[in-house]
Amino acid sequence: MRLKSFELNAQDIASVDVEALHALSLGVEWPHRPGDWDALRSLGHGIVATDAIGRVFGSAMWFPHGEDCATIGMVITTPRVQALGGGRWMMDRILAECGERRLILNSTRAAYRLYVSLGFEPQAIVHQHQGYATTWAAPVPGSAGAVEAIAPAGIGEVAALDEAAFGAARPRLMAHLAGTAEIRGLRRDGRLVGYGMRRAFGRGTVIGPLVAGSEEDAVTLASALLGGLDGRFVRVDTRQPPGPLRSYLEAAGLKLFDTTKTLTRGAPLTPVEPGRPGIYGLAAHALS
Ligand SMILES: CC(C)(COP(=O)(O)OP(=O)(O)OC[C@H]1O[C@@H](n2cnc3c(N)ncnc32)[C@H](O)[C@@H]1OP(=O)(O)O)[C@@H](O)C(=O)NCCC(=O)NCCS
Repeated sequence: MRLKSFELNAQDIASVDVEALHALSLGVEWPHRPGDWDALRSLGHGIVATDAIGRVFGSAMWFPHGEDCATIGMVITTPRVQALGGGRWMMDRILAECGERRLILNSTRAAYRLYVSLGFEPQAIVHQHQGYATTWAAPVPGSAGAVEAIAPAGIGEVAALDEAAFGAARPRLMAHLAGTAEIRGLRRDGRLVGYGMRRAFGRGTVIGPLVAGSEEDAVTLASALLGGLDGRFVRVDTRQPPGPLRSYLEAAGLKLFDTTKTLTRGAPLTPVEPGRPGIYGLAAHALS
């Protein structure tokens, strides 16, 4: 017997039970926990594709960063209905909601052709490093004194540095992370020159965003953020090519697990250049 008749409708992602979203992401082997979905729903907008009795078959989200920029993520169709046009149908709706904003997303291999056909252009490769942190994750010698803990009240200074690195203000994300992440800063001559955050995500802890003016500073921040996480599962996503940061992550037990591609539409990705603030670690695939 062959049954293949799906009529799906778009529904606001805010209106569905988080367990349905969790089941959707588990179905494509993504590590998000229900709390991660709730955090993302508090930061952005999106749709789910549901059938007549409310079962969820797909999702797509967008996250405004100020007035002119947005990131796109959580684009999933359940394996049973993949390659039937559902991904494109959801993306058309999300792109209409995004309007004229310049857009950034991180694409899996499965979604690459779809995004390119929608006008997105490749910019960089994202390297997903993860694993159980080892004793190598000890503080980098001589750097401990340079790193300070930043309290939620200090988020304004962090957000200004983040805007310089990301190329757009991310006020909603910064406000959310101020309440949920541990923040470390790197100060030189009284000026904040780098910051990093860590928070619970997926299988353990994610370190990101990681903003610095050089790979060396990024390593200093990463090592401070790995402090106390020995034996715990940690993830860092970075667009850096092989170099001090990725060598450090490998040595700390965070092996290269997978890659995705950053694509943009409307403007190129802000480059990472030594001597000025750059994004050395992503906040999340959906948030760039
Ligand atoms: C990527 C994904 C959302 C695409 O959804 P979909 O409903 O299959 O998409 P569509 O049916 O609209 O197909 C869109 C295009 O992608 C192609 N495509 C679909 N699945 C593909 C796959 N596994 N590998 C390569 N191309 C694929 C289709 O052929 C189609 O191209 P065409 O229009 O040129 O023929 C879906 O495969 C998925 O959820 N994958 C797992 C999670 C994931 O990787 N999400 C993307 C995050 S960036």
